[in-house]
Amino acid sequence: MSIKRSLLSVPFRFCNMALIFFLLIGINAFAADPEVSDSDEAVKAGESLFNANCKTCHKLDQKFTGPALRGVSDRRDIAWIQSFVKNSQKVIQSGDPTATALFAEFNNTVMPAHQFLSDDDVMNLLSYIEFGGKEEAAATPAEGAAGAATATGGVPSEYLTIILAVLVVVLLLILIVLGLIVSVLTKYLNKQPLEEDDKEFINQKTDLKKVFRSDAFIIIITAIVIALVAKTAIDGLFSVGVQQGYQPTQPIAFSHKLHAGDKEIPCQYCHTGVEIGRSANIPSPNICMNCHMHIQNVEGKEGVSTEIQKIYDAIDNDQPIEWVRVHNLPDLAYFNHSQHVKVGQIECQTCHGPIEEMEVVGQHSALTMGWCIDCHRKTDIQTAGNEYYDKLVQLHAESKSKDALKVKDIGGLECAKCHY
Ligand code: HEC
Ligand code: HEC
Ligand code: HEC
Ligand code: HEC
Ligand code: HEC
Ligand code: HEC
Repeated sequence: MSIKRSLLSVPFRFCNMALIFFLLIGINAFAADPEVSDSDEAVKAGESLFNANCKTCHKLDQKFTGPALRGVSDRRDIAWIQSFVKNSQKVIQSGDPTATALFAEFNNTVMPAHQFLSDDDVMNLLSYIEFGGKEEAAATPAEGAAGAATATGGVPSEYLTIILAVLVVVLLLILIVLGLIVSVLTKYLNKQPLEEDDKEFINQKTDLKKVFRSDAFIIIITAIVIALVAKTAIDGLFSVGVQQGYQPTQPIAFSHKLHAGDKEIPCQYCHTGVEIGRSANIPSPNICMNCHMHIQNVEGKEGVSTEIQKIYDAIDNDQPIEWVRVHNLPDLAYFNHSQHVKVGQIECQTCHGPIEEMEVVGQHSALTMGWCIDCHRKTDIQTAGNEYYDKLVQLHAESKSKDALKVKDIGGLECAKCHY
């Protein structure tokens, strides 16, 4: 009777495989690249983000400081765009060929990082980029036409959806047919004279439970889960950003060149925390007022300068000045200013560059883990006059090492010193 048994098990197998296939399609559709929405809501949200962050450098249909953006979701992957917009330098430094070519084409102009944008923000930006600003485009007919052509260029992904839908329908039909075959065969075989265990096999209850318990199913699901988790984790780590060169525009045109350079105001006068603790501190408007109570303008000019008026407004409204943060280590890393400035006696400029020459502060060093470690390998510790180190110096002198005591020798390479 084993021939009949295998006869029946073929459709059974098919049913199982079809079910697994379904699940895969479902998961796949779920994990696929998101689509750029043309809803008014998304376009509107994108427009205000665009005007606030991108407009100074980008136009939709014309090359400007950066490339014309309409059609970008056709020429690049959504994932690529998301990482590029959030931190273009990171993508360029990873050696991505598209990004490096683009960077060279635009004479190494650095597009600032926008890590405060979420994936959804970028999707809204893309909605505006692909579907917004049509009036502007219409004004320049040739480019307008090009814009319209690319704006309807979402076709391939629409096809994909249709193909997927058709596949699902076909699979459903196959499943139904197979079900029918199974029941007809079962009925037929039940009318035959059969051995006991064959009968049992034929009349077994299908199938969902079995499918869910089958090894193949469990292996596939586990694999998918592991892959998804790994991908999320890796993406998370790589989005930890490198922002060297980042130089945002500040709400007040405050010049370090003028204050720290020309007027030689010491850094600590404003950055009061550097010798005390972890954070250097950005001065509050009150500190500015120590001087700007009296100084209302640059020498030789009349009245209150518009920039200094902003300090007075902040004081009047009891509002902080919303300086844009330039340096930003991820939360996972611990850095302490006083340890470096006071104990280590390192100059601000070693890490921050020639701040006293900067009209606008930019990030001078990479601030990567490699950068920290590299310095800890090379830099001698300032032990003179520091009792805390006397014992260590003695121990080090007794050891075979001929080098001076370096940061690495006091545990400057231990993970837990910088990560908690
Ligand atoms: C300071 C100028 C500047 C600002 C602000 C700016 N960009 Fe850019 N962008 C550039 C430059 C320059 C390039 C070309 C690549 C390069 O040099 O890094 C570029 C490239 C791009 C690209 C790749 C285009 C392609 O053809 O592949 C995208 C996408 C992009 N920018 C989106 C944005 C978005 C979205 C914003 C606002 C959130 C923005 N940019 C803000 C200057 C800027
Ligand atoms: C008169 C006050 C004042 C003095 C003096 C001054 N700063 Fe600043 N500093 C500021 C203000 C305000 C900001 C925030 C706005 C900006 O980034 O320009 C700032 C920002 C910075 C930043 C970037 C902070 C961030 O957001 O990551 C660094 C680094 C810095 N200062 C270093 C120095 C160094 C080094 C000196 C001495 C050579 C110095 N500053 C002297 C007021 C001052
Ligand atoms: C220790 C004194 C001192 C402090 C503190 C100080 N400034 Fe100044 N600031 C000056 C001097 C001096 C000038 C230049 C006046 C001149 O050129 O005659 C100046 C000029 C300026 C200008 C240029 C004005 C213009 O019209 O171009 C701005 C803007 C400015 N300061 C902002 C700030 C801000 C913001 C703070 C607080 C973070 C601050 N200053 C703190 C002394 C100070
Ligand atoms: C050994 C390198 C190093 C030295 C030396 C150093 N800094 Fe920093 N500084 C950093 C790093 C790293 C950050 C970013 C810290 C973060 O994001 O937590 C930073 C951030 C800052 C900020 C932003 C606000 C903050 O506290 O996060 C200011 C302002 C600043 N430094 C000023 C100074 C001044 C002024 C000096 C000199 C007296 C100085 N730094 C010396 C590495 C250094
Ligand atoms: C320019 C060189 C330089 C750079 C860059 C630098 N450090 Fe340091 N670091 C030192 C020196 C020197 C000491 C030793 C200070 C002392 O004597 O305690 C030190 C000490 C430390 C310590 C204490 C180590 C211990 O064993 O007690 C930590 C934590 C630390 N650094 C974190 C960082 C982090 C995080 C970065 C990068 C964001 C960084 N450092 C970048 C020079 C540097
Ligand atoms: C001297 C300080 C320092 C030491 C020691 C250190 N780290 Fe880091 N680590 C950092 C800083 C700073 C960052 C953030 C770098 C960035 O933003 O690119 C970082 C980032 C990371 C990341 C995130 C991934 C990445 O590339 O950005 C991992 C994972 C990590 N460190 C693991 C370790 C391990 C494991 C050790 C011990 C072998 C260690 N770190 C020792 C300072 C340190």
